[in-house]
Amino acid sequence: MKLWGGRYDVETDELMERLNASLPFDHRLWEVDIEGSKAWAEGLHRAGLLTAEELNALLRGLDQVAEEWRTGRFEVKPSDEDIHTAVERRLHELVGQVAGKLHTGRSRNDQVATDERLYLRREIDRLDGEIRALQAALVEQAERHLDVLMPGYTHLQRAQPIRYSHWILSYFWMFQRDRERLADARKRVNVLPLGAGALAGHGLGVDRRFLAERLGFDDVAPNSLDAVGDRDALLEVLAWAAIFGVHASRLAEDLILYASQEFGFVRLDPRYTTGSSLMPQKANPDALELARGKSGRLVGNLVALLTVLKGLPSAYNKDLQEDKEPLFDTLDTLHLLVPVLAGVVRTMEPQPERMRATLDAAMLATDLADYLVRKGVPFRQAHHLVGRAVAEAERRGVPLNELPLEAFRRISPHFEADLYATFDPERAVEAKAAEGGTARQAVLEQIAAAKARLRA
Ligand code: ARG
Repeated sequence: MKLWGGRYDVETDELMERLNASLPFDHRLWEVDIEGSKAWAEGLHRAGLLTAEELNALLRGLDQVAEEWRTGRFEVKPSDEDIHTAVERRLHELVGQVAGKLHTGRSRNDQVATDERLYLRREIDRLDGEIRALQAALVEQAERHLDVLMPGYTHLQRAQPIRYSHWILSYFWMFQRDRERLADARKRVNVLPLGAGALAGHGLGVDRRFLAERLGFDDVAPNSLDAVGDRDALLEVLAWAAIFGVHASRLAEDLILYASQEFGFVRLDPRYTTGSSLMPQKANPDALELARGKSGRLVGNLVALLTVLKGLPSAYNKDLQEDKEPLFDTLDTLHLLVPVLAGVVRTMEPQPERMRATLDAAMLATDLADYLVRKGVPFRQAHHLVGRAVAEAERRGVPLNELPLEAFRRISPHFEADLYATFDPERAVEAKAAEGGTARQAVLEQIAAAKARLRA
């Protein structure tokens, strides 16, 4: 028997039934669905619509249904259209006629919107913890290898020497912004749709403020029409996840490059690489390639839901059932991906000699320009003079730091013997002492700030 069968005298087409069903994917809402139903039952009791005995029968019945789901004993029937109908059908079998009172004043429209928010709230808290663990792994790497130097790149061309710790912390801050965005989205998730009815509100005296408090919501949705048709909470989380995915994919790409034989800057732990079925020497960075690749589905899931919502008329439309699979897919993807990324970061080993070997004198050309600046040469001119020295060294086939002093002095009399002290990567790095730079003290301050965020 269908919950809405009263006006029908024909059976639903079999394929239509399958198309219409959401239980195959929304069954994971069972726990929040029952939590919401228990609160609604209490609300009905407080409004004088259920006796104490009826309330108790419903609560006990709902607990029993929950227990069946928890232990995998819940038996799905072909008529169970979605999680809401499945729970109510089973409740009816367990407690009889009184089950028919539970849906008083409620619609699946406000029910599903409430379930999704309860579910999202829990998932957001779990995600926050997982990303926090990834950040902690980054900070740990930075501290352990504080003084390792590496080439910093722009345009993937060697640019200036930096600390390895500085590079790795750059990702800490991307993920910090992600966590802040997620915390902000949570505020808008935590608003209660229940009590909005099908679209117009309900007229049976259930106190929505009581429901909000009972279910831990900060506020009630102020417009019933909006409450049942709004999926912004899901959209925000999917948009958030797309941004996070892009960050994760950039970290992955850096590491894929740095772990290649050509760079050889980091060694990945074999727990996170895979071999080739053909080439025995390979250790492929599959975990990282998947991190890079998964960003595609994270972005795709956002686009899928945006497209479902675009142009929908007000309030509830069945299209909204299409919100769940993209959401669940994004959450499942992240719950796997983020801990694996944390594992990769925690276990990787930088190769300081390989990085150090790339720090040639040319990477200190900017520091040589700064040397001239300190002697009063305007920067534009200094840049030009050093450029000429670089060209001269190239012409002679020697590294810049082996160009003789007379050659430098022919280019500018401001060059003096002390210029050669510039060609020390250590010194160049230590010169970047401004807040947020790569000097030791600046990085130590950065680590302290990062740890404070982890504690917050
Ligand atoms: N399974 C539905 C969904 O996920 C629940 C709401 C159904 N509401 C309705 N009026 N048919 O959207």
